[in-house]
Amino acid sequence: MDTLTATDVQTTQAVDFLPLKGTDYVEFYVGNAKQSAYYYQAAFGFELVAYAGPETGLRDRASYVLQQGKIRFVLTTSLLPESDITKHVALHGDGVKVMALWVDDARSAWEETTKRGAKSAFEPYTLEDEHGSVTLSGIYTYGETIHTFVERTNYSGPFMPGFVAKSSAVPQPTSVGLLHVDHCVGNVGWGEMNQWVKFYEDVMGFKLLLTFDDEDISTEYSALMSKVMSNGNGYVKFPINEPAEGKKKSQIEEYLDYYHTPGVQHVAIATKDIRTTVTELRRRGVEFLSVPASYYEDLAERVGAIDEDIESLKALNLLVDRDDEGYLLQIFTKPVEDRPTVFYEIIQRKGAKSFGKGNFKALFESIEREQALRGNL
Ligand code: FE2
Repeated sequence: MDTLTATDVQTTQAVDFLPLKGTDYVEFYVGNAKQSAYYYQAAFGFELVAYAGPETGLRDRASYVLQQGKIRFVLTTSLLPESDITKHVALHGDGVKVMALWVDDARSAWEETTKRGAKSAFEPYTLEDEHGSVTLSGIYTYGETIHTFVERTNYSGPFMPGFVAKSSAVPQPTSVGLLHVDHCVGNVGWGEMNQWVKFYEDVMGFKLLLTFDDEDISTEYSALMSKVMSNGNGYVKFPINEPAEGKKKSQIEEYLDYYHTPGVQHVAIATKDIRTTVTELRRRGVEFLSVPASYYEDLAERVGAIDEDIESLKALNLLVDRDDEGYLLQIFTKPVEDRPTVFYEIIQRKGAKSFGKGNFKALFESIEREQALRGNL
């Protein structure tokens, strides 16, 4: 109990010290940023808004900034045979390097978090151009992933100094209705979940929102455990998964086998109209996990009255779950690279603030079928 009290006190203080305004951007290190940028534009409906590379004076890398709603993805690749980016891609494949957080004061965010035990990724520095200034600092979280703190008071440029505005050459890169990042999930190693829960509590001032143990998240074969961490205003949510013992290999273990360190497993993106969004994503070739038709047989009974006709959900393979505050609709893509690592969740919340616990079993059985096809179950 003493420990709990101490944590509670620290948490309260940290929330005061580290106000996060939301997710600023998610940066991926990839093998070929030009082609990844095409994929996110053509398949996911992002718009290219900014670019940095040799044409803007960078000699070692190129970055494409894509936007849709409030979501900003940065795709970065190395131009050199040996660099931190090249090594990152060699070890992990394409993956999330940075979950950037929007703050009022990047210097104090870095000072506070490093004082509280975070490992620094880089010290605060300020970039300036004719559009204003942006101050950045960074700390490590799990694996090689970092949180960059971004202070962009009065910055009016396309992304940040060093980037130029760039529009898209991809025909009709129309939005598919993606609005904002709902949550970013991390996979960590055996027995490491609580260490990272403590990191988000003690260093970042987050609170534990929900816990799922292996009773909640297990199928006949495989299991995992998860805890959901949330910041003070609830805009930033980081669930953290670790594998659990099952008869066969956990999906988290499969991820770790291919990513080689802890890292981001999925980014969940909110939409106001999941049926339109997913219809359009499917039309553009995005592949989703599927659940068997039997999932829909007792759905009405399980979730009660919903606005959507169940046949229309079944046609798109959308999942539904209810909690005390409402319900949510969700669906998961297959991994978006050849390694079975990063994937996306599309989510529409209709009151529910939870994460679809009622769908875990059907979903994980679906993931297991994919694991078996890859020879990794
Ligand atoms: Fe999720």
